[in-house]
Amino acid sequence: MGRRQELEKRQTLLSRFGRLVAAETRLDALLTIIAEEVRHILAADRCSVFLVDPYKGELWTKVTLGVEEKILRIPMGQGIAGFVAKTGSAVNIRDAYRDTRFTQDLDRITGYQTRSVLAVPLKGRDGKAVGVFEVLNKSKGAFTDEDEGLLRILATMAASFIENATLYEDLRRSHLETIYRMALVAEFRDQKDTGRHLRRMSRFSGILASAMGLSYLESEDIRYASPLHDIGKVAIPDAILRKPGKLEALEYEEMKRHTIYGSQMLANAESRLLRLAAKIAIAHHEHFDGSGYPYGLKAKEIPIEARIVSVADVFDALVSKRVYKGAWTVEDARSYVQGQAGKLFDPEVVECLFKSFDDVLSAMEEENRRILEDETVKEAFPQHLQGIDQHPHV
Ligand code: C2E
Ligand code: SIN
Ligand code: SIN
Ligand code: FE
Repeated sequence: MGRRQELEKRQTLLSRFGRLVAAETRLDALLTIIAEEVRHILAADRCSVFLVDPYKGELWTKVTLGVEEKILRIPMGQGIAGFVAKTGSAVNIRDAYRDTRFTQDLDRITGYQTRSVLAVPLKGRDGKAVGVFEVLNKSKGAFTDEDEGLLRILATMAASFIENATLYEDLRRSHLETIYRMALVAEFRDQKDTGRHLRRMSRFSGILASAMGLSYLESEDIRYASPLHDIGKVAIPDAILRKPGKLEALEYEEMKRHTIYGSQMLANAESRLLRLAAKIAIAHHEHFDGSGYPYGLKAKEIPIEARIVSVADVFDALVSKRVYKGAWTVEDARSYVQGQAGKLFDPEVVECLFKSFDDVLSAMEEENRRILEDETVKEAFPQHLQGIDQHPHV
């Protein structure tokens, strides 16, 4: 290829890179796009993006081991990436195993054999390294000075997008955390096992939504909004909410109002998730045959999200102990739900429950195990809100 063509090709790749990274605000997806593009542009076999974790004094990167994605961490100053992050200078070596800075630690974990390495710092707005770009094993020969120049340009472009995505990620996480804590408030007075029912029914709702063919984003929204379905119970007096026995007719009438209270608390929200939560709160006790409350809506008049959450909620309420009832066995809960297909529940959602019953059971076991490990409210907080690696979209 001539020099001129070479330059033109580079231009095209650079503008494509800019376009792709600018379009992505999810940190997770952004890192994947960046790594894939850079690998391609520099004709390298691999590209790793390491990010600085200033609180831990470490660098972390995501690697794929078989089908699993794992976060690997290395101390600042250690390895090639650690050296680059600490000193802010680039490293270009032909044979990593002959370089004393290279520790082979990551190769040992990933089973990869690194030969040539080109690494440049990712500098944030204040000039400090926020991470490191590393490309490994040039397809032919070693990385050139020109490759280094190119990687520096890409690093500059990527750094500001990574910084923005990180800020956005923080915002999103605090938003989801707030939603979850709000749901805990309602549940706190109602049940001893704070959060257990919420986490399980939220997982079930997400699983059922996917099984119903809703998109990943829609299913995730339902998963995050569903814990707020009973938020209206905060307005129900203790004498009713915590009554150990069966409710009198009038008490039950008041109890039913938790759907309306909940939707009033969430009404007219700006946030998409809170608007969805309001829709679920008002309709999660409607029945498919029209016998539910508060409005007696029928079949498809009930929003799909509420039809899904209703199955998830009742199934989990049955297997849980309440002040007014003991815990049912999974088998009993299962046949109850089956018997209510077309009556309380949308038969399609019931079918999806059975289709994905293995996933539902493993989600349930996973959540129960988590509780046994630690009963504190802090730990009642779902793990998927703790790590960036497992973090979904907005
Ligand atoms: P919850 O305890 O979260 O139960 C949610 C739904 O699960 C119930 O909606 C019902 O459809 C189903 N469910 C729960 N336990 C049982 C059960 O033992 N048998 C059957 N067949 N279904 C069950 P529902 O009935 O509209 O109740 C809404 C909320 O009202 C309940 O939420 C609970 O907080 C309260 N509640 C209902 N019945 C009683 C009661 O007898 N005593 C007290 N203290 N509260 C009650
Ligand atoms: C790196 O690849 O930069 C760090 C890992 C190592 O030096 O083995
Ligand atoms: C937000 O509105 O703060 C983002 C979450 C959402 O509404 O989906
Ligand atoms: Fe409810």
